[in-house]
Amino acid sequence: MKLTKQDVVARFLPATLAEGAQAEAFAPSNIALCKYWGKRDKELNLPINSSLSVSLAHLGSRTRITPSDDGADHVLLNGEEQPLDSKFAGKVIAFVELFRRELDQPLTIDTHNNIPTAAGLASSASGFAALMLALDKFYDLALEPQLLSAFARMGSGSASRSIYQGFVEWQMGHREDGMDSYAMPLEQSWPELRVGLLKVATGEKKVDSRAGMQRTVETAHLYQSWPLQAAADLEKLTDAIVRRDFELLGSTAEQNALSMHATMIASWPPLLYWQPDSVAAMHQVWQLRADGLPLYFTMDAGPNLKLLFSAEHQQAVCDAFEQLEVVAPFSG
Ligand code: PMV
Repeated sequence: MKLTKQDVVARFLPATLAEGAQAEAFAPSNIALCKYWGKRDKELNLPINSSLSVSLAHLGSRTRITPSDDGADHVLLNGEEQPLDSKFAGKVIAFVELFRRELDQPLTIDTHNNIPTAAGLASSASGFAALMLALDKFYDLALEPQLLSAFARMGSGSASRSIYQGFVEWQMGHREDGMDSYAMPLEQSWPELRVGLLKVATGEKKVDSRAGMQRTVETAHLYQSWPLQAAADLEKLTDAIVRRDFELLGSTAEQNALSMHATMIASWPPLLYWQPDSVAAMHQVWQLRADGLPLYFTMDAGPNLKLLFSAEHQQAVCDAFEQLEVVAPFSG
């Protein structure tokens, strides 16, 4: 019998929880420099490889939980009520249910994302991390960060990393119950590092990351080399962070992202998240780099690019890419 999320979470909670009054929490969005792509356990979101990210400081999700006064659950996103049978509300309530269980207290879960929607950034990582942190406060659980990360992972894999700011490593773990699969912050900071969010296209993607990674694992022979690539890149990135070697950080992150996309393209039916404008932006980055600007990119399961550069080159990068949203992950 395979373990369910319910089985795993219940082991760490008291038999019954006291009703909560209200709670609010914030979690940052994060960008992986070494990507998580592929699950060894779909129910628990256990990854095939370890990953490493940088959190986006003030950009993320704020979630507030309050008891409902009309006897029903409510889920709001950016001030708008979401139908309970929508995909978004369904995921939120299913996650809340892991903790609420037999407690008969209807809740209102109100989430605001301050990630510019124009940047087309996924918000499931910060969303589930903020929800986990808010539930921890609401039910007065005082869970250890490692547990918060492991539980957030069950909402969305990358949410395990959004429990922390700064550089974060999510170790894949090997246990069947996944309790050794959680993220930890790295102690190093990098004040000059900048992440530029470059919007290429917005709109709902046709294949979400859950379905995309499953298709890749099941149909792409090329995927067999991915865990090796990811392990080698993680080592290089850790080294780059310790030595503040920007070229090594940027080149490793870019190659890692393109390797992940190569496995997607080699899936069947093929999975290509790029739009013509994504490819044009890649060529622009490569040209600027050839002209001497230390600029790299990474990309997730979507058409947008995230640019990596150092503060001293911010003006040059912003001159080249209009409407770039620049984040300083280690500012203050
Ligand atoms: O956490 P998920 O299921 O949304 O998957 C995230 C996948 C990538 O964004 C492509 C990579 C990553 O590590 O964040």
